[in-house]
Amino acid sequence: MVGEKIGLRDRVSLEAFRWFFRRKLAQVFGDEKRKEYFAELYQILKSISDPRSLDDSVWGAVSLAGGTAIPTGHAANCITDSERSTKFMRGLREAIDQMRTSTGRRVEVLYAGTGPFASLALPTMATRKPNDVRFDLLDIHPESGDNLRRILSLVGFSDHVGRIITADATDFDFGKAQYDIVMMEVMGPGLSYEPQLAVMAATKKALRPGGMMLPERVDLGLVLARDEDFIEGDFTWSYVAAERDDCPEMIEVEMDLQDVDPGSYPVGVKTRVTVFGSNVVEPDQAIITRTTQIGECDVEQGATRLFASYPPGADLVYRTYEPSVRVE
Ligand SMILES: C[S@@+](CC[C@H](N)C(=O)[O-])C[C@H]1O[C@@H](n2cnc3c(N)ncnc32)[C@H](O)[C@@H]1O
Repeated sequence: MVGEKIGLRDRVSLEAFRWFFRRKLAQVFGDEKRKEYFAELYQILKSISDPRSLDDSVWGAVSLAGGTAIPTGHAANCITDSERSTKFMRGLREAIDQMRTSTGRRVEVLYAGTGPFASLALPTMATRKPNDVRFDLLDIHPESGDNLRRILSLVGFSDHVGRIITADATDFDFGKAQYDIVMMEVMGPGLSYEPQLAVMAATKKALRPGGMMLPERVDLGLVLARDEDFIEGDFTWSYVAAERDDCPEMIEVEMDLQDVDPGSYPVGVKTRVTVFGSNVVEPDQAIITRTTQIGECDVEQGATRLFASYPPGADLVYRTYEPSVRVE
């Protein structure tokens, strides 16, 4: 009985479990969602998953040219990053609805970097019919694909899914596939560590003309720390998905120093992610937008501008790549 697996007090039938789970997922589109809500979703998904698909060890990470693919257990846990999950889940469904209205046919979506739960697509599957939207799901870990087959069949969403692909998204031949929407969240703060931009550039080739890439844009800016205070720069570097087909070699963020007093400052990078329309993850609302220290700078009298640069996907926390920070 599913009830035993998901820890419900009574033994429940598969039908009752599916009804309960769909209802729970649909709540994403209601009031603001708190951490406890996503913690509960995580526990339900974990309880119906193959434990081999929830690898928490660092050995489960895969190092790629554009950044690191995180282990399956860490990917599963991303659902608990509540503001991120809310904005991506809502933004994805809004984009699908808009596309469905404008084309008048079923919307074909590629979801790259699903982890073992494909969690960002589940609320749409619960609230839209397979005739309205179909997902191809892709992840680099074979355990993710195996678990997706298992849980999608258990929760009754298999009809919403076309292909389940195990591949490196940056190195996969999508053939003649022409998606209406390509969506992913493969990113660390400041576009560090994970290969978001490399995956966006590679999967955009599988987008049909007039299709949508989600997130729509990522903006970065610099922040200086002084005691308890933070001096905020503007957002000066942006990746606007509709306007770019490439993965830049360097991210170069700047800040105006005209009103900054001379002194030594830790330098951080701040992140804003626009998933779709008004579904925006603002700086420090989520792990993916957490302001992250990338270096230090000495501001001397007369200094006008601060520059910081690093390649996308660089590990900024453990400094496997030392960002260049300079003042002019
Ligand atoms: C941050 S997790 C997100 C998981 C899930 N989509 C969510 O939002 O809860 C990113 C996932 O993308 C996978 N991934 C990273 N780079 C990839 C690549 N180049 N090709 C395929 N999968 C990749 C990781 O292994 C991980 O499962």
